[in-house]
Amino acid sequence: MKVGILGTGDVGRTLASAFVTLGHDVKMGAREATNDKAATWVKQAGPKASQGTFADAAGFAELVVLATHGVANGAVLKAAGPERLAGKVLIDATNPLDFSKGMPPRLAVGFTDSGGEEVQRAAPQARVVKAFNIVGHVSMFRPEYKGGPPDMLICGNDAEAKKQVTALLHEFGWPEVADLGGIESSRVLEPVCLVWVLYGAATGSWSHALKMLRK
Ligand SMILES: NC(=O)c1ccc[n+]([C@@H]2O[C@H](COP(=O)([O-])OP(=O)(O)OC[C@H]3O[C@@H](n4cnc5c(N)ncnc54)[C@H](OP(=O)(O)O)[C@@H]3O)[C@@H](O)[C@H]2O)c1
Repeated sequence: MKVGILGTGDVGRTLASAFVTLGHDVKMGAREATNDKAATWVKQAGPKASQGTFADAAGFAELVVLATHGVANGAVLKAAGPERLAGKVLIDATNPLDFSKGMPPRLAVGFTDSGGEEVQRAAPQARVVKAFNIVGHVSMFRPEYKGGPPDMLICGNDAEAKKQVTALLHEFGWPEVADLGGIESSRVLEPVCLVWVLYGAATGSWSHALKMLRK
């Protein structure tokens, strides 16, 4: 599969490397086609890796991952071009975090709207699936925990897209994937990120993940 990763940060590079490891061709997009972080990643990831602008990555891909600074998603999707995302699965791994008042961050949008819904509105024909936003980047691929594999929570409006992302998550090492409904469930999933952040801030440890217990 051809995968476009919008974002050069920890999440973008982690997920891009995971897709390459699984045999996919990956183009990493940034504001500038010559972005240094993307160039370093391409060099390290090998011949299945390439870089370009957000629009290049969106146009190249069959599946796109949004892994950009959450409050910049509108600008990123405008630059990517919503028409290049039409009909494609768009995994939204972002959180609309506002760091303007320091740590811990607050949600820039919430309760009656969400970052996931903003992403779906900005790319109306994309099949947006919120995933990966509730866990740190170090645990996104092949997470290993003493208590067994953690749970991934997803949501989105397109049932077929969620099925595809669920299969992908299984390949990434997430056997338990809970579907929380339509993209408006991002209103619940994005605060879960803050549960993760607050626990990390309290313990100074950033490798935790969440699991639901079942009888
Ligand atoms: N870090 C984690 O462990 C983690 C875990 C779960 C979810 N998340 C979420 O995943 C997303 C990515 O996090 P991250 O830490 O990997 O990276 P980040 O530093 O939040 O974002 C980096 C990306 O955002 C782009 N960007 C920043 N400001 C922009 C602007 N004004 N206009 C257009 N693009 C802009 C950068 O573009 P350039 O490449 O052009 O500079 C870069 O590609 C965030 O929404 C975060 O909340 C993070």
